[in-house]
Amino acid sequence: MCGIMGYIGDREASRILVDGLRRLEYRGYDSAGVATLVNGHIEVRRTVGKLDNLEKLLATSPLDGTIGIGHTRWATHGPPSEQNAHPHRAGQVVVIHNGIIENYLELKEALVAKGRTFHSETDTEVISQLIDEHMSQGLDFLAAARAAVKQLEGSFAIVVFCDGDKSRLLTAKTATPIVIGLGEGENFVASDIPAILDHTRQVLFLEDGEMAEVTRQGVNVSTFDGEPVEREPRRITWDPITAQKGGFKHFLLKEIHEQPQALIDTMLGRIRQEEGDVWLPELDQLGTEWSNIRRIYLTACGTAWHACLVGKFILEEMARIPVDVDYASELRYRKPIFGPDTMLVAVSQSGETADTLAAVEEAAAAGSKVLSICNVLDASIPRRSRAVLYTHAGPEISVASTKAFTTQLTALYLLSLHVGRQLGRLDEARGRALVHDLVNIPSLIQETLTRGKQLEKIAKKYGHASDFLYLGRGINYPIALEGALKLKEISYIHAEGYPAGEMKHGPIALIDEELPVVVLLPRDPMYAKTLSNLKEVEARGGRIIAITDAPTPDLEEIAWEVVTIPRANHMLAPILLSIPLQMLAYYVACYRGTDVDQPRNLAKSVTVE
Ligand code: M6R
Repeated sequence: MCGIMGYIGDREASRILVDGLRRLEYRGYDSAGVATLVNGHIEVRRTVGKLDNLEKLLATSPLDGTIGIGHTRWATHGPPSEQNAHPHRAGQVVVIHNGIIENYLELKEALVAKGRTFHSETDTEVISQLIDEHMSQGLDFLAAARAAVKQLEGSFAIVVFCDGDKSRLLTAKTATPIVIGLGEGENFVASDIPAILDHTRQVLFLEDGEMAEVTRQGVNVSTFDGEPVEREPRRITWDPITAQKGGFKHFLLKEIHEQPQALIDTMLGRIRQEEGDVWLPELDQLGTEWSNIRRIYLTACGTAWHACLVGKFILEEMARIPVDVDYASELRYRKPIFGPDTMLVAVSQSGETADTLAAVEEAAAAGSKVLSICNVLDASIPRRSRAVLYTHAGPEISVASTKAFTTQLTALYLLSLHVGRQLGRLDEARGRALVHDLVNIPSLIQETLTRGKQLEKIAKKYGHASDFLYLGRGINYPIALEGALKLKEISYIHAEGYPAGEMKHGPIALIDEELPVVVLLPRDPMYAKTLSNLKEVEARGGRIIAITDAPTPDLEEIAWEVVTIPRANHMLAPILLSIPLQMLAYYVACYRGTDVDQPRNLAKSVTVE
């Protein structure tokens, strides 16, 4: 949730830290801070609000030093304030932290009883206090840090350093990620890869229960118990440019436009057009035949949960296996019937969402097979799964998910095709047709993107409304939910998604001449039925905005706006229908002047429950 950055080398640390944090700003942004070691003494600068505020402070009150740590915070304990912003100092020790220390109150009481004074309301401060306390009892910095992390319960990724020790940063982690970037005579620590891509592509990932001593010359990894760990560096292939805005006004718009490429990348190397099949060797890790699987559970949060709802339709149709879909936050607390004949498929862009991770752990502990669909290499959820089907959307910076969503739909389509073919429930000819349709989708998205101008006009016309209703049916009902979520997230307009057939059971009472009703109307067996639902909207004066591949005269007559998109097979229509809804939400948000990429109260990755 928060952004972490650490540097040790011979360059000016504060500049490198702020630049790295800028790449991580999407993870959390209610306050920010940096600390560097200047002449044997650590100095800290912190501000509330965005990184720009921190940069202004550093302009008037600069920090020298070639070793330091920096943090962007999204409040979990204590309100956003300078005092609660990281880094937190206690005596000689200064720390930054992601996650939640569950036993911090107990630890704090014990430290206060020893005469220690706390300066913030955060759970984080217990970490610096504990390390400093151990040092005051005679332990050296490394031993003190090791002793402290062993006392912490909960989830944490920390970077810590100490007055008078010019030689190292220490970092440790449990449930939230730490990546160490390896340079020449300099090294980096971060909570996510984009922060360090400008400097290096050689990285080491820390595993849970590990800590690392990071010096200018190298990195020593060990367990919390002090056992040395050998870890081979990995090479990251992302281009730093892909983590920038390019020519677009917002990351969100850029990411909407990146969808054709993101889908291509997700299919790349996996398509076997001739055989009417897909190649997913990563699924061999599951160690089971699909014929042994009686039920699939799909689980996720937010947008990824909408992908799961679509996935149920696709998997059941292609593979003929019963599928349940649950919010991860619900699944983890109910008692699903997991066992060796069940498969949990967890879908997550970040791979760090706490509820989804907990659901994965529950399912694995109950003996279920676990497959994850994830966009971030080696994130916590993939690491806890037997097999991973990576989407290749590239870094998604904007908080509102777009390309991650459509690549999740693509991955679910690939998975369904694979299972359907494995089980013989799709024959070769049908498989070939389905593969062919999928391969065509990126160009159909490209064509759909040309409706941007029309959607911008629609946004200006209806963007003043206080509520929107989104309607869809069948496999496109989840897309109505996703359209409504997108609008809510970035424009702050109240919006609801409904299956069109449910309208007369309640939501029809909302319809008046002020209410824009966005309806998804592909030509499928539900077309006529949805059209008749729309006549009820029209009769009550609702403003119908139709997204369709079949602009019939009947529809033209009742709709205020008709956005025509290309035709796709019905299992791929959700991907195409998502695109105009993303653009509509984007242009409404621009019209209302909200913070498109970093909407209020939201964080990109929700690593707390
Ligand atoms: O990283 P994840 O896919 O696990 O995130 C799940 C949700 O938090 C995420 O999709 C959220 O709903 C997005 N902000 C939606 O745009």
